[in-house]
Amino acid sequence: METEQKEFNLMKYFIGGLSLILFAALTVVGYVKASESRQEIRPVISEKNKKCIECHLRKGIAEGGINDWKHSRHAEKGIGCFECHQAKEGEIDAYTHEGFIIATIVSPKDCGKCHEQETKEFTESHHGNAAAFIGSLDNVLGNVVEGPAAADSGCRQCHGSEVKVLPGGKLDPTTWPNTGMGRINPDGSKGSCTACHFRHSFSKAQARQPENCGRCHMGPDHPQIEIYNESKHGILFYANRDKMNLNNPKEKWIAGKDYLYPTCATCHMSATATQPATHDVGTRISWTLRPAVSNKLENWEERRKAMKDVCQSCHGVEWVENFYKQYDNAVTLYNEKFGKPAKAAMEKLLEKGKLTPTQFDEPIEWTYYELWHHEGRRARMGASMMGPDFTQWHGFYEVAKHFYNKFLPELKELDPGLADEILAMPEHSWKKGLSKEEVAKTIEFYQKRYQQ
Ligand code: HEC
Ligand code: HEC
Ligand code: HEC
Ligand code: HEC
Ligand code: HEC
Ligand code: HEC
Ligand code: HEC
Ligand code: HEC
Repeated sequence: METEQKEFNLMKYFIGGLSLILFAALTVVGYVKASESRQEIRPVISEKNKKCIECHLRKGIAEGGINDWKHSRHAEKGIGCFECHQAKEGEIDAYTHEGFIIATIVSPKDCGKCHEQETKEFTESHHGNAAAFIGSLDNVLGNVVEGPAAADSGCRQCHGSEVKVLPGGKLDPTTWPNTGMGRINPDGSKGSCTACHFRHSFSKAQARQPENCGRCHMGPDHPQIEIYNESKHGILFYANRDKMNLNNPKEKWIAGKDYLYPTCATCHMSATATQPATHDVGTRISWTLRPAVSNKLENWEERRKAMKDVCQSCHGVEWVENFYKQYDNAVTLYNEKFGKPAKAAMEKLLEKGKLTPTQFDEPIEWTYYELWHHEGRRARMGASMMGPDFTQWHGFYEVAKHFYNKFLPELKELDPGLADEILAMPEHSWKKGLSKEEVAKTIEFYQKRYQQ
């Protein structure tokens, strides 16, 4: 009995011990799994950075920013406050701060010390130069017709300000805060990386989200995010966001392999199996859809080939070739039927002295501006990114409505000859009346359809 009891007790301890070990092992595995899925990052904090962080936390300055930094790739690699904010004596925006010489603005020049390639590509792109709009019609509208404060809190928050440093080193409040795309920095460099990689996490996953681009690429004059959201591509992205592997490094974020649904970054920036990623968003675009009349860009064939390569990560050749045919046809239709005649008429009005050289002081100038800058862009942009509602109802429909019912009547009043010239074009001959057969066909269609 006694020995049996002993054996039983031993057995109990054995089983107890075993389950304890098992429990501990499972806990460790569980912990590792959980921390993997949370991508827990251990910040490496140098003596210097410890000083910045401890004092800032004590005084409650930028605590949120510090906690955000702690979860970043930079923190893991020991790149802290000082590595980014350090400055040299004599630099225009440098100031002495608790024994350190720092600058508040961390410009592409600073990021570029460690990220040379991204910085070079970005600086050469249209994004890097987005603050250069002084000569544009939009600028007359923003700065003059509306007023400078509208431009500071509006235009320049997307395009970028020219940051001015006040005597003593503080930043001029009319020019900063600002993280517009093409911001002109006190050190002379152009752009702001935080336009897409928000501080202090500086994450590529966040930059790959369509909402990131949609912050600026939206609204009546360039509704790319709205177009994307209504496209099959957008719908698939939102339905599968958690399967997108958005945190993968650039070599392992290959369309069609590592994820299956394209975001804005996929088509305009990210790598394919045969093409490296780029920070120049213009390298895959063939038409420019922004001006009153679209043009093909320099080296457009090469650029188009690069975009087709992206499409073909997921689609077949014929699908892609035919898509481009439809897209080219839509741009050409807008250009030839509406864009070119309207532009030529406006130029002639000015030449003949029937318009003053001052922009936006005559109603037809507003009509024409909206025709190309809002409606005409929407028609072309919808066609470029698979958003048929933008191509049609927000696009060509509005173009046609205002071309025939506003622009032409206003033109006729200023110069009847010019309006008649446009109406004589074969594209506009329908205005003289459809043929008897065409009218009969339409009536028959509706009668059949709605009879039951
Ligand atoms: C002894 C305390 C202390 C230390 C050390 C310290 N800071 Fe500060 N820092 C402050 C306080 C307080 C402010 C807010 C008042 C001001 O602007 O001076 C501030 C402001 C700042 C600002 C400006 C924010 C703005 O809105 O313009 C930056 C940038 C900054 N600190 C970075 C750093 C960096 C980088 C380090 C380490 C290299 C550092 N600080 C070390 C106390 C400190
Ligand atoms: C990877 C580079 C980088 C690192 C690391 C970094 N910063 Fe910054 N910080 C920036 C950038 C970029 C800005 C935005 C300034 C601008 O461009 O307008 C900024 C802005 C700031 C500002 C002023 C803006 C605000 O929101 O008030 C403070 C304060 C600041 N940083 C403190 C810190 C502190 C403290 C640390 C360390 C925990 C730190 N930074 C680490 C890049 C960095
Ligand atoms: C002192 C060097 C240094 C500076 C300055 C620096 N970085 Fe980095 N950055 C790194 C290193 C190292 C990594 C990690 C690279 C890796 O994971 O392979 C990194 C990673 C990144 C990533 C990828 C993050 C992710 O989600 O994986 C981005 C984006 C980034 N940096 C942007 C910036 C920007 C923007 C600035 C300037 C505001 C900046 N960096 C300044 C060294 C630096
Ligand atoms: C919501 C952000 C935002 C605001 C506000 C904004 N823009 Fe833009 N702007 C953009 C984007 C995005 C583009 C590029 C659109 C495209 O390529 O389809 C652009 C394009 C332009 C262009 C054409 C550039 C070219 O190379 O053809 C000019 C000029 C311009 N904007 C000036 C202005 C002015 C002036 C204002 C203020 C009256 C303004 N913008 C307000 C985001 C903005
Ligand atoms: C238009 C938005 C945008 C701007 C502006 C931008 N980036 Fe990026 N960045 C991205 C996107 C999107 C990715 C992910 C690209 C991909 O899919 O490979 C990325 C990735 C990166 C990476 C990680 C690359 C890797 O190894 O995986 C670094 C580093 C980086 N950017 C640095 C910068 C620097 C430095 C600047 C400023 C000179 C900058 N970025 C400006 C959108 C932007
Ligand atoms: C902070 C505002 C802002 C953000 C965020 C932004 N853009 Fe832009 N983007 C602009 C402006 C402004 C322009 C027009 C620049 C010009 O021509 O002056 C532009 C132009 C472009 C162009 C036309 C380039 C060319 O060479 O014609 C493409 C493509 C583009 N952006 C894609 C993207 C993508 C993709 C993202 C996100 C990864 C993004 N943008 C994020 C403001 C922004
Ligand atoms: C499936 C691929 C794809 C996706 C996703 C995509 N685009 Fe595009 N984008 C294109 C194509 C194709 C064009 C037209 C290229 C050409 O003209 O050859 C274009 C054109 C553009 C232009 C140029 C307009 C101009 O003024 O010339 C901008 C800006 C742009 N896209 C921004 C975006 C933004 C922002 C997103 C996300 C909200 C996005 N794109 C999503 C494929 C895509
Ligand atoms: C990462 C994969 C991927 C990439 C890259 C991609 N697509 Fe798609 N695309 C899809 C998927 C998936 C669908 C949905 C297929 C379906 O059910 O019709 C789709 C749908 C489409 C549609 C159908 C739209 C509709 O309303 O029926 C067109 C057109 C299209 N893509 C063209 C393109 C073009 C052009 C490019 C390059 C500029 C491109 N795609 C890039 C995955 C991709």
